[in-house]
Amino acid sequence: MDITEFKTDFLIIGGGIAGLRAAIGASRFGQVVILNKGLKGESSSEFAQGGIAAALNEEPAEIQSHFEDTIIAGRGLCREEAVRVLVSEGPRRIQELLDWGVSFDKNGEQYILAREGAHSKNRILRARGDATGNEIVKTLQRAISTNERISIFNGYFTIDLLTSKSGEDPEFCFGAVALDEEKHCLSRFYAKAVILATGGIGQVFRRTTNPPVATGDGIAMALKAGAELEDMEFFQFHPTALALPGAPSFLLSEAIRGEGGQLRNADGKRFMDRYHPDAELAPRDLVSRAIISEIRQTGVDHVFLDVTHLNPHFVRERFPMIYATCLHYGIDMVKQLVPVAPSAHYMMGGIKTDLFGRTNIPRLYAVGEVASAGVHGANRLASNSLLEGLVYGARVGDAIEAEASHAVDSSDGIEDLKLGGMEDSISWPEAYRSTQAMLKSAMWEHAGIIRQGPLLETLVESWRHWSEVLKSPPLSRPALETGNMLWASAALIQSALERRESLGAHFREDYPEPRTDDPPQHSLVNFKTLKALFKEGGK
Ligand code: SIN
Repeated sequence: MDITEFKTDFLIIGGGIAGLRAAIGASRFGQVVILNKGLKGESSSEFAQGGIAAALNEEPAEIQSHFEDTIIAGRGLCREEAVRVLVSEGPRRIQELLDWGVSFDKNGEQYILAREGAHSKNRILRARGDATGNEIVKTLQRAISTNERISIFNGYFTIDLLTSKSGEDPEFCFGAVALDEEKHCLSRFYAKAVILATGGIGQVFRRTTNPPVATGDGIAMALKAGAELEDMEFFQFHPTALALPGAPSFLLSEAIRGEGGQLRNADGKRFMDRYHPDAELAPRDLVSRAIISEIRQTGVDHVFLDVTHLNPHFVRERFPMIYATCLHYGIDMVKQLVPVAPSAHYMMGGIKTDLFGRTNIPRLYAVGEVASAGVHGANRLASNSLLEGLVYGARVGDAIEAEASHAVDSSDGIEDLKLGGMEDSISWPEAYRSTQAMLKSAMWEHAGIIRQGPLLETLVESWRHWSEVLKSPPLSRPALETGNMLWASAALIQSALERRESLGAHFREDYPEPRTDDPPQHSLVNFKTLKALFKEGGK
């Protein structure tokens, strides 16, 4: 098989906000290649609606209040120093975006600041109403387009990291192997350091707001290379995604509730004030569980989001993309209630990093949703993730200078890949399609918003059957993505089984209270612990 080889100084896998911001920083110290899977280079960042939270005026009291809201939402599991970095460096990163030409919405000369759940005040900047992620991605891409040191390769699906090993343990990372989706051949990229910015794993659930690319590729690659993952049981379910047969579970931003949108059950009654004094603006995990409780009581698989009492002109102007999407699916939200239900939205754990994105594997960095620097704890505060991508992307872009003196190593690591035959990359063998469908359904039912030990155990059993498809997969993106989804799910299941308590987004019906540990402990999994449970049935 022909294998194309590329050498660069820094390889970034994933071109969402975190990867793009890291690239801008890293380019000061060498050449950068960004690999994006899919010819369009799609990322979750582009779909972020609500906005980006920050203490724009840099007032110490405002920064402190953002810090406190983040810590409270995180239920004691945030790393305080990571949150301090986020809120105090955030305003600088926002100013940088403004300098690069981002256009946040204003009223006259004043930026409009929106409110979302669990924020004690309005501090969320937004762009084009509900297209904030898209506006920031486009701005970063524009800044990069004139930077001759950064090359973006779309249509490269990264399969594995190249690591030098000492026995079982990784010594350092020196590149990655990717499938060129157009030419359908393998490419090796050698680099002094690699930054994983591959986003989340939402596709492991039947209902998700994430785009199809969110299949846990970075998580699976990092695991197999020997990286440690932390807090994988903490997965955030967004309370309000469209719930219409045949329509995607399209996000209806929390900002809609911030502007006065109300939740009603199938009987048309408001219910959130029975669950929390902040009603519709309670923390996300509480709102999602309240909706599930209403769904169970009424026997109808959705509740309603109601904006019919708001000014129709305001709704159409404020949420243009959401309004148009609902209309496309036959709902005029200024006249009709919108059926909604929770949907898998954001992975709060991930590859464990320090405050500069460094993982336990030398020369391997992780940033953005794929990483766990400790910012989000057990429940992410709304609109903190775009900020995290910018702040920690910039930090990784600074820290990478330390790797600039290494040689680019082109040792052969390809024989580690155990791939089956060459198959058409767009083929979708039935075995993989059905495995994905079973996995997504079972994860939604048993590892979703409400969990129970015995049901999580059944997932381990099922996983052992499904993992038959992991043996010698064909060189096809759907097949390889299925493997990644399986490993990402395994990490979540094991962490959820081991945390015998309810905390933030992790709710165990069989252990409904938090433990009394003070502060709560982070969970850790790696490839060895996963293989012990899933492959050998070690427990
Ligand atoms: C939303 O607009 O509700 C999503 C924002 C976020 O997930 O932070």
